[in-house]
Amino acid sequence: MRTGYALLPLGSLLIPLARADYFFKTSYTGRDFLEHWTWQTLDDPTHGRVDYVDQATALQRNLSFASDSKFVMRADSINVVPASAPRGRSSVRIQSVEAFSEAVIILDLQHMPEGCATWPAFWSLSQAGPWPKGGEIDIIEGVNLSDENLSSLHTSPSCTMAPRRRMSGIASSLDCDTNVNSNQGCGVQYADPLSYGALFNQYDGGYYVIVRTKYEGVSVWFWNRWDPAVPWEVKLPPTTDLFGPARVFPTALWGVPDAKFEFGSNCDYEEHFDAHNLIFDLTFCGDWAGNTYATSGCPGTSCVDYVNNNPAAFQNAYWEVNAMHIYTRLGA
Ligand SMILES: *[C@@H]1O[C@H](CO)[C@@H](O)[C@H](O)[C@H]1NC(C)=O
Ligand SMILES: *[C@@H]1O[C@H](CO)[C@@H](O)[C@H](O)[C@H]1NC(C)=O
Ligand SMILES: *[C@@H]1O[C@H](CO)[C@@H](O)[C@H](O)[C@H]1NC(C)=O
Repeated sequence: MRTGYALLPLGSLLIPLARADYFFKTSYTGRDFLEHWTWQTLDDPTHGRVDYVDQATALQRNLSFASDSKFVMRADSINVVPASAPRGRSSVRIQSVEAFSEAVIILDLQHMPEGCATWPAFWSLSQAGPWPKGGEIDIIEGVNLSDENLSSLHTSPSCTMAPRRRMSGIASSLDCDTNVNSNQGCGVQYADPLSYGALFNQYDGGYYVIVRTKYEGVSVWFWNRWDPAVPWEVKLPPTTDLFGPARVFPTALWGVPDAKFEFGSNCDYEEHFDAHNLIFDLTFCGDWAGNTYATSGCPGTSCVDYVNNNPAAFQNAYWEVNAMHIYTRLGA
């Protein structure tokens, strides 16, 4: 294994601070998203009542908005959708042009979509195809209807997770194979109620950090914005001047992760995972929760009718990203 050192230049002295395993790779803030992510207009593979629009349309209708420091993507909260419309409520799905394998991804998120019928997700996906070759990692995903929100892996056969792992979340299923349990994946329910939905937004969001390596697996940490325990190396933007691009992430000091997925004989890393592109999307109804709408406590009995006829209910159905910073492992 190759290793690097973070060097602090002090006059002519170079003092090794600690062994660095990661190097700064890229950051996305504000307008960076417009250049380095693709607006996908596909029919929603999860059959949501959604019409994913292209970038020009999204900018023109302010369904995507970028300034120097903010990036916002939202559902249409103005127009009624005719029942005869083939796709549904306008919304946004974007994918990073670049793909990452062994990496630390820091997402500083101010707001996530909330409201009845919403199904937002931040996730990563292999481009190998056919799905699920190369794997899928869901990082933030939930549906307002069923009060479920989780992190999950979706893979080809023979990838399972142990029931007990060092994490604060609760395993809801253990087989990551998409052919098992109606593609439920090996999900972990977040235990922290501030990690999702209306409460997440009330606390001004927070930081999701994903660490993915062959030997340590995939760990996800969440800290709300005001948690005094947010590590400084998560809060600080990447510095390329003083410390150089090398970065140390002392994950052993971060406490128990919220979700943890381990690789080994239970799930061979190379067989199931390769470089992933990152995706944000926001769909409505669809496969996960469409059928449970009538008993969810949301208005009416039809999810699709609710989405079609209540534009104003989608005013809080938006992602607001402060920044995303990505560090890759040396040699990865
Ligand atoms: C577009 O959206 C941004 C972000 O939510 C908002 O600040 C801005 O006022 C909106 N612009 C218009 C013209 O509505
Ligand atoms: C679900 O959406 C409804 C309607 O917007 C909202 O009142 C409720 O707080 C949401 N629930 C959660 C857990 O976000
Ligand atoms: C998210 O999951 C946690 C743990 O299962 C639960 O307490 C919380 O209500 C869920 N939140 C939403 C918005 O579904």
